[in-house]
Amino acid sequence: MVVKILGTGSYLPPKVVTNDDIAVALDTSDEWIYSHTGIHQRHVADVGETCSTMAAKAARAALEAAAVKPDDVGLIILATSSPDYNTFPSTACIVQGLLGCSNAGAYDLQAACAGFVYALEQARGYAVLHPHQKVLVIGSECLSRILNWTDRSSCILFGDGAGAVVIGAEEIETPFETKAVSLLGADGSGRHFIQRTGGTMTSLPLDPKTGIPYKPEPYLPELSLQGHEVFAFAVRTLAKVTIDLCAQKGEKPSDLDRIFAHQANGRIIEAVARRMDLELSKFYLNIDKTANTSAASIPISLDQAVRSGELKNGMKIVMSGFGSGLTFGGIRCNWPEL
Ligand code: UT7
Repeated sequence: MVVKILGTGSYLPPKVVTNDDIAVALDTSDEWIYSHTGIHQRHVADVGETCSTMAAKAARAALEAAAVKPDDVGLIILATSSPDYNTFPSTACIVQGLLGCSNAGAYDLQAACAGFVYALEQARGYAVLHPHQKVLVIGSECLSRILNWTDRSSCILFGDGAGAVVIGAEEIETPFETKAVSLLGADGSGRHFIQRTGGTMTSLPLDPKTGIPYKPEPYLPELSLQGHEVFAFAVRTLAKVTIDLCAQKGEKPSDLDRIFAHQANGRIIEAVARRMDLELSKFYLNIDKTANTSAASIPISLDQAVRSGELKNGMKIVMSGFGSGLTFGGIRCNWPEL
């Protein structure tokens, strides 16, 4: 049995916000943002667009590319840090309804920007257990709704969008043999580096008369990050993930055809390339146009590379991600076999 990516899809909302647009509202410039991040613009969800509507569009494109009908999907795993609701019902359930995947289970997965890699790893396992079902793996983000648009050091980094892949197992005569190698990891000691407040860790004051909790004032939780710490972790981790995966295969990073690293900051990817003594051209790059779309960044990159013909069958690739948590992970495969 062999597990494969059968089709890819992606969706970027048509509305584009350039660095110059942000510079109208904040003390920043295209020159500063591009020189520190490699970003020129980002796509931003318009009124009426949400994490689920973008996810459904990417998923429909992936199903069509895979020639898979919604009824044949047995599971939908949706990686996101910016779900439609905070936090239930899951965005995956909303997408299941939008797509009409009447035979599918559905859940959200939260591993921040490493979410797609985590989700793909779960999907691989499910596909082996249920070889007659297809799995939809989606990364979708509506980050523009959780950013602090007055914080110039974080709001400039992110964008909205969605990417999806369809996974399926194919029966072949040999017993199941995994061709891909993978690793997942976490380091909770870095949990303060990228955060979104608004969960239950904030205690509510108690009314002195009744002893019942009350909310002092309504507020919208926002994302915050400590850029330097995240930058250093990202460079260290993305390089190590790739080196470790290649070592598992008995090969060197220079043997790879392409690396699909999470697009967090173009300067991070340049530093990773230098650290591994690799040409930058080994890395797929689209951050100048999409910015950091968190869990959606790797599947958007895969879909763009497939549709442009850059990602061809048999290519040796690594997908690698890192994010809040801290989380990290990677998969080394020969496209499109997992
Ligand atoms: O998926 C993971 C998500 N997170 C990340 O990937 C974040 C990783 N970190 C980074 O990408 C970088 O650390 C940033 C792009 C966030 C910041 O770049 P930096 O080179 O580390 O800048 P800095 O924080 O050291 O700030 C240098 C200066 C500061 O001014 P002062 O204090 O030296 O006067 C900042 O206030 O640049 C200022 N600054 C800006 N200036 C113009 C910070 N943001 C901006 C801005 N425009 N947008």
